[in-house]
Amino acid sequence: MPESDRDRQIEGWTRPTVHPLLPEFSLALAHRLDPLWNATAAELENTGLEPPWWAFAWPGGLALARHILDHPDLVKGHRVLDLGCGSGVVGLAAARAGAAHVLCSDVDPYATAATRVNATRNGLKVDISQQDLLAESDVFFDVLLAGDALYEPAMARGVGRLAAAITRRGGTAWFGDPRRAAFPARGLTAVATYDVSVNREVEATEQMSTTIWRLDDPTFWEGT
Ligand SMILES: C[S@@+](CC[C@H](N)C(=O)[O-])C[C@H]1O[C@@H](n2cnc3c(N)ncnc32)[C@H](O)[C@@H]1O
Repeated sequence: MPESDRDRQIEGWTRPTVHPLLPEFSLALAHRLDPLWNATAAELENTGLEPPWWAFAWPGGLALARHILDHPDLVKGHRVLDLGCGSGVVGLAAARAGAAHVLCSDVDPYATAATRVNATRNGLKVDISQQDLLAESDVFFDVLLAGDALYEPAMARGVGRLAAAITRRGGTAWFGDPRRAAFPARGLTAVATYDVSVNREVEATEQMSTTIWRLDDPTFWEGT
């Protein structure tokens, strides 16, 4: 499907949304789960694509984006990877905070389209890739950012191994995570916590306490 068609689909399924934690950005987000689920169900079944996670800004991503905007030195002048970018919320915050280069990566073509739409909407420049970087052996960035990427064991192991490799080579790795099911606290240091308002239909609650974690000891993740 041409990029412009997918971008138009994103615009049709979402509305411009300003989250109270992140008034700096207007993001194309869905407010209801069911219509989007129904619209994408057939394609998901035929292609094995991820469900439309891109259509919501997750608490981990929102908290990490807030943290980066408030602590721009974490990314300023650095080459940054936003892994599992979804709507692009974290990578866009890094771009706005002065990163030298940002790559927003997601295996879902709707997520890369949503990130493209959101970058344009907010006047920011990021590179966007659909390549599965977790399947690559030699990936290095100065800073790895991952918002709500630890929601499933295989994904958590892959992200953890990449984070460990990057920190071994002198980079830093940061996670925004409300302690999802696959979250392994080992080797991580909590640096800040945010109360994030969330979509009740998605999370079955309205507020989630969400922590920013820095990987300090990669040993555990190397063995996963
Ligand atoms: C829960 S969403 C979080 C999105 C965004 N970071 C946020 O916080 O709003 C997780 C994202 O990870 C993506 N994902 C899953 N496997 C991936 C992989 N191997 N590489 C990159 N992204 C992946 C999904 O497509 C989805 O967009």
